[in-house]
Amino acid sequence: MPTIIDGKQTAQEIKSEIAVRVAEIRAGGGKTPHLAAVLVGSDGASQTYVGAKVKACEEVGFKSTLVRLESDVTEEDLLNMVEDINNNPDIDGLIVQLPLPKHISVDKVTNKIRPEKDVDGFTPANVGRMTLNWPAYVAATPYGIVELLKRYEIETAGKHCVVIGRSHIVGSPMSILMARNGYPGNATVTLTHSKTQNLPEICRSADILIVAIGKPEFVTADMVKPGAVVIDVGIHRIQDASKKSGFRLIGDVKFDEVAEKAAAITPVPGGVGPMTIAALLYNTLQSAEKKVF
Ligand code: GUN
Repeated sequence: MPTIIDGKQTAQEIKSEIAVRVAEIRAGGGKTPHLAAVLVGSDGASQTYVGAKVKACEEVGFKSTLVRLESDVTEEDLLNMVEDINNNPDIDGLIVQLPLPKHISVDKVTNKIRPEKDVDGFTPANVGRMTLNWPAYVAATPYGIVELLKRYEIETAGKHCVVIGRSHIVGSPMSILMARNGYPGNATVTLTHSKTQNLPEICRSADILIVAIGKPEFVTADMVKPGAVVIDVGIHRIQDASKKSGFRLIGDVKFDEVAEKAAAITPVPGGVGPMTIAALLYNTLQSAEKKVF
């Protein structure tokens, strides 16, 4: 059986470490770290994610502010809201939950966030800093994966890492982090996407396979090299009448058959997902402690 990379447990450890630090800051008379989240509209998944982020803030002793805006909010009003939070000295971190309604430019909104408060690591300033290997806020999902690789002491130097999916949020930063000089890093990286030819063959040559394609059970056992490390970023709700809730969660990887070949694998749920939230909290703590800028 492979090592099951337990993101839930690891995220819990990280949250405990953060809670200890928050208590120390408070005991020293310091300010409580404070995360603000802006949620536009009523997309179900976004509400769930933001709710989980707010709850996680409570767990570690952070202050949180949730700003809810109607889906027909103007771009200008949203930009003004971001600016207000930028200028609020009590708030350390600011995230605007994506996706945004079509009439709003994600690029404009992202670029409005002060890099010093950009704990999602989405601004050009932080993406650039990460790419240059400067201190930076690294986007929460890739950062969470980096932390899992570290805590499970997975060797990355000289390995072939194949990333499926080139999104700005996951695939693209992940490929940069795996290639850069450091640990984890020093891997030979192939970043694949919808136009990639011979994808199964490329995947079969991966020592580390990071899957962020957003298609349920896309990666099957025939695409995986025996002994590979498989990181599944996907999360999909599918109907399942045998469950009390009526649904179950699956990833981008066909877990059961791939687990038989892999040396280590992240489950869904309980793999990358909880780590994303832990990484966001960690970035917010770094901001409160002025460790990045
Ligand atoms: N939508 C999906 N993932 C994320 C994330 O990490 N941050 C934000 N702000 N929106 C998202």
